[in-house]
Amino acid sequence: MNFHVLTLFPEMVNDCLHTSILGRAVLKGCISINTVDIRDYADNKHLRVDDYTYGGGAGMLMRAQPVYGAYEAVEKRIGFRPRVIYLTPQGRVFDQQMAKDLALEQDLVFLCGHYEGIDERVLEEIVTDEVSIGDYVLTGGELPAMVMIDAIARMVPGVLSNGDSARTESFEDSLLEYPQYSRPEVWHEKAVPPVLLSGHHANIEKWRREQAVIRTARKRPDLLERAVLTKEEQRLVLQVREEGKDGSLPDEGEHE
Ligand code: ADE
Repeated sequence: MNFHVLTLFPEMVNDCLHTSILGRAVLKGCISINTVDIRDYADNKHLRVDDYTYGGGAGMLMRAQPVYGAYEAVEKRIGFRPRVIYLTPQGRVFDQQMAKDLALEQDLVFLCGHYEGIDERVLEEIVTDEVSIGDYVLTGGELPAMVMIDAIARMVPGVLSNGDSARTESFEDSLLEYPQYSRPEVWHEKAVPPVLLSGHHANIEKWRREQAVIRTARKRPDLLERAVLTKEEQRLVLQVREEGKDGSLPDEGEHE
């Protein structure tokens, strides 16, 4: 899968996305990161990419011309009109399902704004999706683009070395991930739940599923609206709610 990032700060994006798991995925050829410096496409002598807003108001706006030039360079390179994601707090809020859907695309373009935003006319011509990563305002679109690329790339086959780990983590089935433990068996007088040492795979799976339900009920009950739960699991959720009412927190180790 190919990620194209239109940005005024290509080195910021390149440094980050060529590190760790994504860096290895680039070397393996599972993904590519193509940063396009919007400034390279400015048509004026001083390579100016920003200008004053018509009608007054504080701050500068990114000009339409260099943004369009950067976009056209990508379109020429790949030979078709790609999906273009504009990072903005006004967009649809990003989530795991959107990451999965976008991971099916061959090429994705991310347009990173700065200053007070981008001239509306170029947005109308090239943007296909407006996406926000949450209800807060950042100084530019680079961090949101990198957050999205990280979440999308890990859904691309071959990016994660253990193919299973993309499937069994938080938000699968609208549940948070169960707690996990490594050696030693006892640390700070806390023992690993005995079922995990039993070697009984069916019991371990059952325990993990229950823990996922309990955790989600405790930490993110809003997610349960979309989860498909058995009767027994629904009872567990009710139990967690009841236990929470008297101020005590349900014990995660209780349902072994
Ligand atoms: N640009 C500035 N803030 C943003 C946000 N929360 N999400 C996406 N793009 C942004």
